[in-house]
Amino acid sequence: MLNDLRDRLGPAAVLIGPEVPERNRNDWSTQAPARPLAVVRPCDAEELSQAVAGCVRAGLPMVPQGGLTGLCGGARPEDGWVALSLERMVGVEEIDPASATMTVRAGTPLEAVQRAADDAGFFFALDLGARGSCAIGGNLSTNAGGNRVIRYGMTRDMVLGLEVVLPDGTVMTSLNKMLKNNAGYDLKHLFIGSEGTLGIITRVVLRLFPKPACTMSAVCAVENFQRVVDLLGQARSGLGPLLSAFEVMWPDYMDVVTGRVGVRSPVSSGHSHYILVEAQGTDPALDAPRFQQWLERLLENGLIADAAVAQSVADTRSFWALRDACAEFFPALGPHVSYDVGLAVARTDDYVRQCKAALAERIPGCESVYYGHIGDGNLHLVAWVPGLTVEAQPKAAMDETIYDLVRAFGGTVSAEHGIGTVKKRWLGHARSPEEIALMRTLKAALDPAGLLNPGKVV
Ligand code: FAD
Ligand code: LAC
Ligand code: ZN
Repeated sequence: MLNDLRDRLGPAAVLIGPEVPERNRNDWSTQAPARPLAVVRPCDAEELSQAVAGCVRAGLPMVPQGGLTGLCGGARPEDGWVALSLERMVGVEEIDPASATMTVRAGTPLEAVQRAADDAGFFFALDLGARGSCAIGGNLSTNAGGNRVIRYGMTRDMVLGLEVVLPDGTVMTSLNKMLKNNAGYDLKHLFIGSEGTLGIITRVVLRLFPKPACTMSAVCAVENFQRVVDLLGQARSGLGPLLSAFEVMWPDYMDVVTGRVGVRSPVSSGHSHYILVEAQGTDPALDAPRFQQWLERLLENGLIADAAVAQSVADTRSFWALRDACAEFFPALGPHVSYDVGLAVARTDDYVRQCKAALAERIPGCESVYYGHIGDGNLHLVAWVPGLTVEAQPKAAMDETIYDLVRAFGGTVSAEHGIGTVKKRWLGHARSPEEIALMRTLKAALDPAGLLNPGKVV
């Protein structure tokens, strides 16, 4: 079947056995590289459809692959599977200024999507640290969150239409460009966030936004978590719809980032929490002074202990470097395990204290640092035992400690990265048996042969 596919699609489209490149054997979830039977790299939906139909006939399990930056094992093949890589399905097909939409192939890197929108005088709002490597199809499949959810929503909120190859090879084209379309079920939402278990996304219609005329950002330091919550309230009311990011960093995270990673902090150290606030405006002459005055008022009334406002694009970049520095944690910390839990905003600091103490008590030598998109109720944490290899990290004990506490707090085990294989055991901590049963019903209905990314999510 694979040789036949290679004859039809060309030698670059089908790599078999030892020809499979290292990158297609794993994602970012720190598992051991797998040995897939082959990687197929089609150029369009029709070629992908032929590959899927061939795998179904041969009874071969398949895994869709985008930029392979996923953190949960979703894109990692098992030995003997066929990887379906979207890496050759790249490029923008159309930008429609009147609809404010972009139609783009699913393998296009997020950063290229952002750049194309910018070149056309628009703004594509999704942004995350993996922007240079992740692909827009992967972003849809994980319903990626990132840094600007507080203003623009998750990836789901930025999609109007898509094209998908179903698990039997059928191509379903649904490239809707209209903001309103209630003609029956909104099928795109089946595929957004389902981590490549229900279909393979090949093209996408994205919503574009007006390019912000100015971006204002500040790093603030406060003396307790209640002030973080108060600052969030002040940002919502004082900056209104301009508020575009509210990222919080705990002191343990700042110590690692300013120490081991070597990023400079623009504010003094020794505070309880650090907040990166960003607002995007439409008029620099009005919005920049307004942002400055808003911040000065909060400094004067003592809500904020220290603050630095970006005066240049370089400043803005250096502020975001504090947040993006977690991408450097492998060289800085060595092997570690990362998490993306979701919690009610007001209870986040209680969770952090209890979690840090529980990890240290249960796992000798365990260290952990905390940060995240707290404006969206999404806490990231990284835990590790110094000196241990990836395999030797006590991940099972960490998972149990972290997720049992999440369940006790009524939170979610994944706010944005998804379930894949690494969090599958914990899905029941965040979803009811009825919810999981309906997920299984959907999976069985769309993929009765169970060959598309089997064993992932549910
Ligand atoms: P992959 O890893 O290739 O795949 C992810 C899942 O989607 C897999 O289950 C795969 O089978 C499936 N898939 C991929 N392409 C398709 C397709 N075309 N059709 C159907 N299924 C497909 N995530 C966030 O949400 N927010 C963040 O802030 C964030 N920051 C990150 C920072 C760093 C440094 C890193 C390494 C990762 C970060 N992530 C973040 C996680 C990751 O980047 C996102 O999940 C991203 O959306 C994955 O895209 P990808 O193209 O790399 O997908
Ligand atoms: C971040 C990734 C880890 O927000 O989701 O940095
Ligand atoms: Zn994140």
